[in-house]
Amino acid sequence: MSRKINVALVGLGFGGCFAPIYRDHPDVGEIGIFDINQELTQTFSKETGISKTYKSFEEILADPTVDAVHLVTPIPQHEEQTVRVLEAGKHCACTVPMAISKEGVKRITEAARKSGKNYMMMETTLYTYHYLHAKGMLERGELGRIQFLRGSHYQDMENWPSYWMGLPPMFYGTHAIAPLVGLSGSRIQRVVCFGSGTMREELHKQYGNPFPVESALFEFENGLKAEATRSLFETAREYTESFCAYGSKRTFEWAQDGGDPVIMTLIPRTDLRGYATEFTRLELGNPYETLPESIRKYTINEGDYDETNPQKSLAKGAGGGHEGSHPHLVHEFVRSIVENRRPAIDEVLGGNITLAGICAHESAMNGGCSVEVPLY
Ligand SMILES: NC(=O)c1ccc[n+]([C@@H]2O[C@H](COP(=O)([O-])OP(=O)(O)OC[C@H]3O[C@@H](n4cnc5c(N)ncnc54)[C@H](O)[C@@H]3O)[C@@H](O)[C@H]2O)c1
Repeated sequence: MSRKINVALVGLGFGGCFAPIYRDHPDVGEIGIFDINQELTQTFSKETGISKTYKSFEEILADPTVDAVHLVTPIPQHEEQTVRVLEAGKHCACTVPMAISKEGVKRITEAARKSGKNYMMMETTLYTYHYLHAKGMLERGELGRIQFLRGSHYQDMENWPSYWMGLPPMFYGTHAIAPLVGLSGSRIQRVVCFGSGTMREELHKQYGNPFPVESALFEFENGLKAEATRSLFETAREYTESFCAYGSKRTFEWAQDGGDPVIMTLIPRTDLRGYATEFTRLELGNPYETLPESIRKYTINEGDYDETNPQKSLAKGAGGGHEGSHPHLVHEFVRSIVENRRPAIDEVLGGNITLAGICAHESAMNGGCSVEVPLY
């Protein structure tokens, strides 16, 4: 029987979603929670029945019973907190993005190597129903050769906490970029990017970024190219995360309206110019089978789960936590520690996804020049 690990969860805004998943994971012994908003920490403790609470980040770092820390704190804190967790000799999972500077990614990479502990970037898009389906099709040869990839993430950040104000769109490009890297089977080595549009002066101040929208072209080491577009401010667009994988046999297209994905299949024929294309609207399955029984229910929205048939739960239109991804992320992080192996989204993959965005913004700030993406 494998040993159980103890985890501390830091930041209970979005992070709150993960508390019950750790609590119910069979390989987790104790889960402790902490938010600088202590009222929130106590409310959460009551709601989830998690009795172990912390009063400070330092208390977690000094607690010898804690094996791993999951950070879900504001973006500007990721770099410093991740480095401190790793230097304290604990495994670290952190929400996206990994950091917001090249130096930040480098520091985390070095801290992970030096500590010998696991770092995992908790990128939700790499465990959505959509991504897992497309990846399965690719692995089974159903897409043929990937010819091009395209990703997008549109979100309006007005009225969000102050650290978001004016954030360069590609600093948080990970949801648009990650599926492209994951499906490419390669790493992004170069980027050109344009910033577009104008936004009010006040939004330029915090990060010196004038652009509400950034659109980038990426070159992969294996020669593939991909495009990603990201908007954050003053752009009338409904929230959307989507990606398309254009293959030589089939294309997987997650529609820009956020609707069900479409598969386009090329039908070779000789009677007309051009091959025909057959469209199929997909009914996505819920690939919960790899998860322990006790956390499968977190792949769908609470209340919609049908234990006798999780597939049916999905059909009720449930989005789950970011399309079912949350329990997969927790499971991968926890199992990587228990099995003493690297996590799927380690500092190399997480670093490439994050750095591609950081370098894209650098390109946009320099008129669309070509920027090499470093490998640490
Ligand atoms: N799909 C995704 O992967 C996804 C989705 C949403 C948010 N996020 C990421 O999650 C993070 C948090 O997002 P959010 O919407 O909850 O942000 P938020 O700013 O609304 O909430 C952050 C929470 O962390 C707490 N906090 C702040 N500093 C802290 C500290 N030093 N120690 C402990 N707690 C602290 C705050 O009190 C608050 O409860 C962000 O980095 C964001 O990028 C990722």
